[in-house]
Amino acid sequence: MTGLPLASAARRRLAWLLLLALLAPVTIVHAEARVLIRFSHVVAEETPKGLAANRFKALVEQRSDGRIRVDIYPGASRYNDNDEMEALRLGAVEMLAPSLSKFGRIGFPEFELFDLPFLFDSIEDVRRISQGPIGRRLLVQLGRQGLVGLGYFDNGFKQMSANRPLLEPTDFLGLRMRVQSSRVIAAQFRVLGARPVSLPFSETRRALATGVVDGTENPVSNFWTQRMDQYQTDLTLSRHGYIGYAVVANRRFWQSLSDADREVVSSALRDALDFGNRIAGTQNEKALEELRQAGTTRIHTLSPAQRARLRQAVQPVYDELAGRIGAALVQEVQETLRP
Ligand code: LMR
Repeated sequence: MTGLPLASAARRRLAWLLLLALLAPVTIVHAEARVLIRFSHVVAEETPKGLAANRFKALVEQRSDGRIRVDIYPGASRYNDNDEMEALRLGAVEMLAPSLSKFGRIGFPEFELFDLPFLFDSIEDVRRISQGPIGRRLLVQLGRQGLVGLGYFDNGFKQMSANRPLLEPTDFLGLRMRVQSSRVIAAQFRVLGARPVSLPFSETRRALATGVVDGTENPVSNFWTQRMDQYQTDLTLSRHGYIGYAVVANRRFWQSLSDADREVVSSALRDALDFGNRIAGTQNEKALEELRQAGTTRIHTLSPAQRARLRQAVQPVYDELAGRIGAALVQEVQETLRP
């Protein structure tokens, strides 16, 4: 198993966190619970991912009569993006649901296909890839690093924010934009003349507040629940890219479950992911409505011509990054979407 390229201070911090976490279940698991699933994520509980994770907990505990307990650690309360994959591989948590953009960094660049700008016109398009043969193949590949890929679910389309409207490609010139750790997303901003700054999600709000970055991109549910509106005067409804998640488990944990328990967890997860997919759209609409009501951030829509110019401006990303994702895979995805 290859280690992540963490700086030594980060490694020390992670070592402490892991030590604490490894000690925790011994003292806190209820006498009647035989299995503990620690499930960490980085977003707020009132987001599509937060709500789906809570539903998963409720279903597992109910269907196992409390024999299996799920502890959710939301909002990067225990691990942030940089730590959580390592924590999973070391067995300090059993399950995660990182965004698909975060798998490239740990050796699965093919997942960055989901970050290609303007690839998907609709959530139905996304599902044709994630829920079809390509998505299944990608999940199997996670086995290369001791992970078990259990399924996908949506957040939704990303929107751009900054302290100015982002309507034309030239509006991005010189901006420092916070990005997830995806080379495709970094390239998307570079071709627009902006400077991508890769930061964990949990640090984004502070980076906006202190001027470390000027802008960012995320579905409105993430933007609103982090109250990024307090530091961004303008949100452009660009729908230029997608954020979804893969649920992954530690393989040793997964194999340690009895067949019956594995079935309980699998069926609860299927139902929780269906639930997550059903509410994702409305959660984003609700967040947008709340943002409108708050009146803190101006909301812009792109005209068809502006959208076409933005789409055209980011096309070089496809040629630049096809080699990283896999040219054959990119072509297969494009042919699946536009036969
Ligand atoms: C981000 O880092 O912007 C998102 O991936 C956070 C999330 O998990 O939705």
